[in-house]
Amino acid sequence: MTSKSSLSGVNIVLAVTGSIAAYKSADLVRRLQDVGADIRVVMTNAACEFITPLTMQTLSGHPVALDLLDIVQESTMGHITLARWADWVLIAPASADSIARLAQGRTDDLLTALCSASESPLAIAPAMNNKMWTNPATQDNLQTLRNRGVQVLGPARGEQACGEQGEGRLLEPLDIVNELAILAVPKRLQGKHVVITAGPTHEPIDPVRYIGNRSSGKMGFAVAKAAAEAGAKVTLVSGPVHLTTPTGVTRVNVETAQQMHDEVMRNVAECTIFIACAAVADYQPESIESCKIKKDRNDTLQLNLVPTTDILSAVASYGVKPFVVGFAAETDNVVEYAQAKLERKKLDMIAANHVGEGVGFAVDDNALHVFWQNSSQTLPLAPKSQLARDLMTLIIEQYNAKNSIKNS
Ligand code: PMT
Repeated sequence: MTSKSSLSGVNIVLAVTGSIAAYKSADLVRRLQDVGADIRVVMTNAACEFITPLTMQTLSGHPVALDLLDIVQESTMGHITLARWADWVLIAPASADSIARLAQGRTDDLLTALCSASESPLAIAPAMNNKMWTNPATQDNLQTLRNRGVQVLGPARGEQACGEQGEGRLLEPLDIVNELAILAVPKRLQGKHVVITAGPTHEPIDPVRYIGNRSSGKMGFAVAKAAAEAGAKVTLVSGPVHLTTPTGVTRVNVETAQQMHDEVMRNVAECTIFIACAAVADYQPESIESCKIKKDRNDTLQLNLVPTTDILSAVASYGVKPFVVGFAAETDNVVEYAQAKLERKKLDMIAANHVGEGVGFAVDDNALHVFWQNSSQTLPLAPKSQLARDLMTLIIEQYNAKNSIKNS
């Protein structure tokens, strides 16, 4: 399964304003076309001083709209037609002046008139000198636009055309495409609460030692990000990891399997989908020493271990249970063991991965075999971010299928 970009088949009006970064918008047209978007270009007068309309027309394959009072285009109400055609309006680069004009609600050129007439979502990728970027007037204007629901992509930090260093560079075209693709993901989990566990657990032996494992949390955090992108309210119950919380995700930090269990069960009653990606310790020391255990070279050390509570099974046997997705980390017999866990733990779905030296744990790429009742799908090796989105697509499909059967 290779997932289609959320921008495939999407109509995008790309508006170019007056900035030296306008040359990057030529490449942006190509990158947007690569993911299947259809592009019409609008240019302000100032933009035409930096890059020619002929370049943009040749790349986009369509006439470039330049003037609000164009006698030919406006014979068919060109700016209204474009506003209706657009699924998204993207201004890249967006100059400080164009941001100010939009914030004021002006409609005296083609770009501002088009934005005013459009009900489609608007994203802007600012590009300007770093002092202009930090200028309070610019920041106020941006806040006004954000309050109206405008999405601001970037800017990036680095060397600027004026020779200064700082924030205000246009994001690279590929980064703009990736950020827009995330914004364009259909919000199929709007109003749903997804609870996800991630990372390892640490089971204390004494005040300085614990039993742990190699989980980095990358897979679980990527799943949390994908669920948030799909519009869900996301609670991420995380073991000890060194990762940044994805935007729009509520994170609760825990250490032990028992703490993870308690936090999950606190949320289970209002949870729509539960995804257990954490590598939870199966055993914990029977008792925790209050002082550091001293080394005695002449003796062996024996630890008594007792099973931890199985969080996944606890959720799967909860009264009104959510849609329950488990993971299975296996070094061998991946398929058989995963299918057995699906049955034994009464899960709706299980995502199995092969783990071992440099595979599954900690690395950036992974592959999954996903099983549910009577069917399965393989998600081949890919970055965990992409894999998580593909897994989320499968989960949403199976969640909807189960609910439509329940409601029929
Ligand atoms: O974190 P990364 O470095 O990115 O690595 C990702 C991963 C390999 C950890 C992840 O993809 C993964 O496989 N997670 C599940 C690891 C695991 O514990 O698998 P298991 O086969 O031992 O457990 C089966 C399922 O039961 C899992 O969903 C687990 O979360 C759950 N479980 C296990 C024990 C327990 N006490 N409670 C549980 O809920």
